[in-house]
Amino acid sequence: MTILAFETSCDETSAAVVRDGKILSSAVSSQIELHAEYGGVVPELAAREHLRNLIPVAQTALREAGVQPEQLDAVAATRGPGLPTALLIGFKAAQAVAFALRKPFLGINHHEAHLYSPWIRGEPPVADFSDFQRNVSLIVSGGHTILALVESELKHRVLGSTVDDAAGECFDKAGKLMGLSYPAGPEIDRLAEQGNPKAFDFPRPLLNDPGDNFSFSGLKTSVRYFLRDNPNLLNDKRRLCDLCASVQAAIVDVLVAKTIRAAKRNHVRCVTASGGVTCNSALRRDLACACKREGFALRLAEKGLCTDNAAMIGILAGRKLLAGVELASLDQEINPSWELA
Ligand code: KG4
Ligand code: ZN
Repeated sequence: MTILAFETSCDETSAAVVRDGKILSSAVSSQIELHAEYGGVVPELAAREHLRNLIPVAQTALREAGVQPEQLDAVAATRGPGLPTALLIGFKAAQAVAFALRKPFLGINHHEAHLYSPWIRGEPPVADFSDFQRNVSLIVSGGHTILALVESELKHRVLGSTVDDAAGECFDKAGKLMGLSYPAGPEIDRLAEQGNPKAFDFPRPLLNDPGDNFSFSGLKTSVRYFLRDNPNLLNDKRRLCDLCASVQAAIVDVLVAKTIRAAKRNHVRCVTASGGVTCNSALRRDLACACKREGFALRLAEKGLCTDNAAMIGILAGRKLLAGVELASLDQEINPSWELA
């Protein structure tokens, strides 16, 4: 089963070819530099960039996979959630390809694709569900922060999510206040490595709340007040590193504590994590420590599969086809606010 997948939900134009659970190619054209100038993703610019890049990216994916369009068995694309105009480009292009080739088409939920991405491993990456276990999964990205309980493959339910900003958004907005360029998450991660996470005390929102929801907008506001009260701090590299480490620690402490608590309460033996923020070194390290301490198996999405990519869309589409899910019609529409149930 050979699948061509597209992902254009935000600011990465991506196409991938997946065959029988193995990623044959994964091409990603990032728009980060384009949006950096504006301090965040500009939807109209993102859509134009997807339009410009989608066909070359798809051609690259097919060429690198050594696959001709006629050899495809199905086409898949992200249906939502995401920026409406951005989603439209990849979704409608995928439907057009499916129509031209008379192949089945699948519209995939972006978060569901992240959710199963920790099960993709190796080189070339292969979807390996052989030791699949019931798990609690943290999906943590620029747009969302979700805790889900995965009962069995393709059977999951959301336990909680952010009530305001996502964790990645908090990294990005706090970084913007510090004068770092968009997206600031990776830069904060880098600077934090040289800083003291205990230097400044930031709030850990909802840390002691027994529920599974998150809230990060207050933390961002406290960084704003902190910088208002310490205007010269940004001129001192060492203290900037301390600030990055302290903000990162506040975010990571909440993510780790709430994930572990949900895992214990739901009596799972496995924890997984995915999404762009799962690239964060402190999150990877602290989740590994906590899981080891508490006796949970841990599967983190590989770094290259944490940020948005079409390979995870293709892998999930393949699993859905195997499971016999109903195919989408070619007049299906995008669903920009399609939350994971
Ligand atoms: O999953 P993703 O590529 O896009 C969304 O679906 O949102 O995640 C992007 C987010 C951005 O907020 C970015 O700052 C964050 O992931 N991110 C990181 C790191 N790498 C990416 N945050 C913290 N540390 C990192 N190393
Ligand atoms: Zn994502």
